Amino acid sequence: MTLQEKLNRKEFLMKMGLGGAALFATLTSCSTSDTTVTPSSSGSFSIDLSTSTYSALLKIGGYVKINSVIIARISSGTDSSAYAAIARICPHEKQDRMIYDTSAGEFRCTDHNWYFKTSGKGDGNASTTGFSVALSGNMLTIS
Ligand code: FES
Repeated sequence: MTLQEKLNRKEFLMKMGLGGAALFATLTSCSTSDTTVTPSSSGSFSIDLSTSTYSALLKIGGYVKINSVIIARISSGTDSSAYAAIARICPHEKQDRMIYDTSAGEFRCTDHNWYFKTSGKGDGNASTTGFSVALSGNMLTIS
């Protein structure tokens, strides 16, 4: 959202009677930084790593969320071992706040900082589902 769009939105909301804290909360509630994408398929699926939609997976630590899965680039390799995928919903309180924590080399739910190995095994906490990842050319298949 550009500054001009925010200003126009603020003017509109002020005319509608919003002000003070309510106006601030409304103006700051939108974010464009989410890398979540939602293809129509579910279950086993493939993505084309050459498309810009999945460009986060070009660098180590990058991740995308597709359907019920979070996929991360975990190393610089050129085969399947460079990627990992686990269930994106945390088994603790069912929050959708899973990330890939590059410094830990594990997935982490940011809600209460539960860690999960790239297999989905809990690191001192409950485990979650790990998925198989297969790379063929630019196509990455999660199953
Ligand atoms: S909801 Fe994920 S750690 Fe609590």
